[in-house]
Amino acid sequence: MKRTVEEHASRFDDHAADYDESQDSEAYRACAGLVIEHADPGPEDVVLDLGCGTGAIALALADDAKRVVGRDISEGMMERAREKAAEGGIENVEFGEGRFREPGYTGEVDIVVSNFAMHHLSDEEKREAIQVIAGLEPRRFVLGDVMFFGEPDPSEPFYSPEVDDPATVGTLVEAFTEAGFAVTGARRVHDQVGVLVGERVGER
Ligand SMILES: C[S@@+](CC[C@H](N)C(=O)[O-])C[C@H]1O[C@@H](n2cnc3c(N)ncnc32)[C@H](O)[C@@H]1O
Repeated sequence: MKRTVEEHASRFDDHAADYDESQDSEAYRACAGLVIEHADPGPEDVVLDLGCGTGAIALALADDAKRVVGRDISEGMMERAREKAAEGGIENVEFGEGRFREPGYTGEVDIVVSNFAMHHLSDEEKREAIQVIAGLEPRRFVLGDVMFFGEPDPSEPFYSPEVDDPATVGTLVEAFTEAGFAVTGARRVHDQVGVLVGERVGER
């Protein structure tokens, strides 16, 4: 991690009011759309959204799920998510403090999602986070994020090298597999952005 959790939280607190308007890239929208599509919860499913931010994914899934739990380190981002839930009359969502490696949620989870957030962790921390996610025993984990499909063009980074730490797709697939997820889908949105779908291997 190139910044501490506290530094990332403060950075996103400062950015919370204009975050939604700033996410106007085609790749971000396509990635979020694929995460929502592949999460595909049913009416009895509890969804956990890690690094939920202002709720782009959590709020979009709430209609189809039984309940959505959002976790993030930035109170400012989650406050915006709560406002949007209230504005939309969405009552089956809950947002609270939690980190990838300590989600602060031990209840039942059917599907875990995360969009554009895990790239703040180092590769070793991502591996640990994916193990923690597997320990919650969801049947599916859908990760949309900055990830490298090949050698990234250094003149056109889709991320901020001073604060972000994206992994290669190979590293992520290995981490999914080691944690007990079979990777059933890998969608490339951009040479530096993609979505991985992991299905839990074996009985829950
Ligand atoms: C780029 S935003 C993405 C928000 C949202 N998922 C979306 O798709 O718009 C990244 C979010 O990850 C959160 N974040 C960063 N590091 C985190 C960590 N270690 N644990 C949980 N959330 C984290 C930030 O606070 C921020 O809200």
